[in-house]
Amino acid sequence: MKARGEKIAALTAYDFPMARLLDQAGIPLILVGDSLGMVVLGYADTTAVTMADVEHHTRAAARAKPTALLAADLPYRSYETVEDALKNAERLVAAGAEAVKAEGGRAILDQVKAIVKAGIPFLGHLGMLPQHVREEGGYKVKGKVESEKQALFEDADALAQAGAFGIVLELVTAPVAREVSLRIPIPTIGIGAGPDCDGQILVTPDLLGMLPWYSLKHVKPKLNAAEQMRAVVAEWKQNVERPQTSKAVSAPMKS
Ligand code: KIV
Repeated sequence: MKARGEKIAALTAYDFPMARLLDQAGIPLILVGDSLGMVVLGYADTTAVTMADVEHHTRAAARAKPTALLAADLPYRSYETVEDALKNAERLVAAGAEAVKAEGGRAILDQVKAIVKAGIPFLGHLGMLPQHVREEGGYKVKGKVESEKQALFEDADALAQAGAFGIVLELVTAPVAREVSLRIPIPTIGIGAGPDCDGQILVTPDLLGMLPWYSLKHVKPKLNAAEQMRAVVAEWKQNVERPQTSKAVSAPMKS
């Protein structure tokens, strides 16, 4: 798609109906992200997500048999060694993933090479790395200073050379994300990284306005699903609590 100049629209899914709906809408890349920890499981960040969690949700999404590429996240601390990375990438493939994603560049290069050598397509993730949010003390934009920019370039080059098929760029300044996109042959998929990446990815519940408890600078919800759900449920509840009389219900319709 990058070679053809086509932008890549990617979204996350954590279960069967969402994977099926995104696939039917023509989304070419669906990610079972470890964001599931926050948007499905109610954790404060992604660091509590386990392999068992990602496997469970990957199995559910894979049952939709999407024509889209289905990628799954290797969760926090599941790829600290080459052996762990390979074993856990294989577990996600066994659960139905067609590709895996992990966070980091040169720091995890041996793991990336081993995964690629095993024939498992690998998606990189650079910029703000949510699995490191605690060490970093928050979700901070990357690429503002020269050292961060150079590190991003070197990490992106290293991942591309190691055989990654794409790189998610999260919270990277727009000019730096643009430069990374121009310098590597594989697509960049941005989230909060400006308009010039080769594609964009969002956490689907953010796009649909399902989580009214927080707002993000990089997402303008296109639906107010939370509000609509609350209204429909409240109306249904009212109807259950104050049902119509049986006379009214069974009255014959006028022709
Ligand atoms: O976990 C996730 O959903 C992600 C996306 C934000 C890219 O990594």
